[in-house]
Amino acid sequence: MKILYKLKNINLNYLLNGNNIKILKNINFEIKKKERVAIIGESGSGKTSLLMLMSGLENPTTGSIIFNNQDLSKIGEKKRTEIRKKKIGLIFQQFFLIPNYTALENVMFPMQINEIKNEKEKAMSILEDFGLIHRRNNLPSELSGGEQQRVAIARAISFNPEIVLADEPTGNLDRKNTELISNLLFEYSKKREICLIIVTHNMNLARKCEKVMKLVDGQIKF
Ligand SMILES: Nc1ncnc2c1ncn2[C@@H]1O[C@H](COP(=O)(O)OP(=O)(O)OP(=O)(O)O)[C@@H](O)[C@H]1O
Ligand SMILES: [Mg+2]
Repeated sequence: MKILYKLKNINLNYLLNGNNIKILKNINFEIKKKERVAIIGESGSGKTSLLMLMSGLENPTTGSIIFNNQDLSKIGEKKRTEIRKKKIGLIFQQFFLIPNYTALENVMFPMQINEIKNEKEKAMSILEDFGLIHRRNNLPSELSGGEQQRVAIARAISFNPEIVLADEPTGNLDRKNTELISNLLFEYSKKREICLIIVTHNMNLARKCEKVMKLVDGQIKF
């Protein structure tokens, strides 16, 4: 199987009050196309920081992040944004839905910027799957945390990205919805051949993945 990501000798440091803090330490791994990988680890171990690097939203202090044979840290902001727009679906811990767009418009948005046809029908069908069709005309502020989280997941998969990077995608959901939504996420990933990287505390979810990586104090343990 082809390699989608190659992370080589990644270090991430932050300068905080004059102190150099090591957040990620000598990270090396590869992810194959269509693979599903869980990232687990305690709060503060560096999981979100790792996703920020993999999405190209942040640059490593040293090392390279090769995505589809391109080094994200070397290609410049404009090209990185273009890659993100077309190929990477992001689910953030804080959702970042567009506040003045309805649930439906949020899910349609990435399809519109990628000029995908019939975006409304497609968004409606995804919202139906995610149990949100009755909420389609509501703004994010009118939705519960779990509903917003489901809109964020629906939006991230709507445009058939090559990969979805998900930061605790079921963190705000009850047990029934966690099961339902994680099954949907895996179904979509299989059907549409989308690679999944999921940060999660939920071991049931992690066990569904082909690979589990644990971050301990900024280092990967397999
Ligand atoms: N911009 C920043 N400046 C300085 N330190 C930061 C910054 N962002 C994150 N950190 C620190 O980096 C470490 C890793 O943070 P990160 O958000 O990656 O953890 P996490 O594993 O996602 O935790 P959680 O499970 O709570 O979401 C933490 O100690 C955090 O305080
Ligand atoms: Mg985090």
